[in-house]
Amino acid sequence: MRKVLVKSIGCEAKDIKTFELVDPEGSALPPFTVGAHIDVNLPGGMMRQYSLCNDPAETDRYLLAVFREAEGRGGSKAFHDEVAVGDLLEISEPQNNFPLDHRFMHYILIAGGIGVAPLLAMAYKLRSLGKTFDFHMCVRSADRLPFKTDLEELVEPGRLHFHITNGDPSRRLDVETLLAEPVSAGMVYCCGPEGLIDAVGEATSAWHSHTVKFELFKPEELDGTDRWFDVKIASTGQLIRVGPRETILAALWKAGIKRAFSCELGICGTCRTPFSEGVPIHRDDNVLSLKEREKEMTICVSRCESSLLTLDI
Ligand code: FES
Repeated sequence: MRKVLVKSIGCEAKDIKTFELVDPEGSALPPFTVGAHIDVNLPGGMMRQYSLCNDPAETDRYLLAVFREAEGRGGSKAFHDEVAVGDLLEISEPQNNFPLDHRFMHYILIAGGIGVAPLLAMAYKLRSLGKTFDFHMCVRSADRLPFKTDLEELVEPGRLHFHITNGDPSRRLDVETLLAEPVSAGMVYCCGPEGLIDAVGEATSAWHSHTVKFELFKPEELDGTDRWFDVKIASTGQLIRVGPRETILAALWKAGIKRAFSCELGICGTCRTPFSEGVPIHRDDNVLSLKEREKEMTICVSRCESSLLTLDI
């Protein structure tokens, strides 16, 4: 982990702030490729991952866009409410699970809300490579539209499309029509919430899989409809109650059991933990194979059907 200074904070749209991070001594930061993210240690001991959304040609700063989830588990709230200009934050080196394949001639970028972050960086890169691209930006209302000016400067006139529903589903991006045919010598990148990813996935199900790439933006919230259960720590016999609005990981940390974690979205596998008793509800994003799920679970998202779950730790 390295320390960075919060140089500026901007208000990008309703509930979306940008945080500009620089080296405290003014040195260059490690380079990043488009689609990369960093882990950020936040006040309260939370760690969250954020995509880098600035031009990767910039070596002196990282720009993050953070959506404040009022009903979330606190990461985005802590970032918005507790981090100020002049603070030092701990971050990881950039890592990339959503890299840009440069080999194609034309690209369609589809962003839902804060899913714009990695795609904005892609737009910078594609422009510098002289590639053509269409940019579709889907938001609920005009005041929730981030990076409007940047996009208008970056994207060729006629290739930038804002889809603002204002509560009217008929104004949604018509994914089926847009993606009715595979893009000739082209690729689709989509980042946004589950509904958008599903729609794009369905519309392109017959395309070559290497021509369509997704990054899911998963909200932090737990909806409270899950039931409580108890976790037993096999090595000590300690019993820990997990409430309907908390994760096993959070309940363990509260009880002083500091298990490693990173994404808290069920996508990285850092928190995988063996269990020996109970019926888990696996909610990881295919991080664990079916075989592995017989003995392990990702405690940041997965839960338990039975009232007792024994973790072999
Ligand atoms: S912390 Fe990434 S899968 Fe749990």
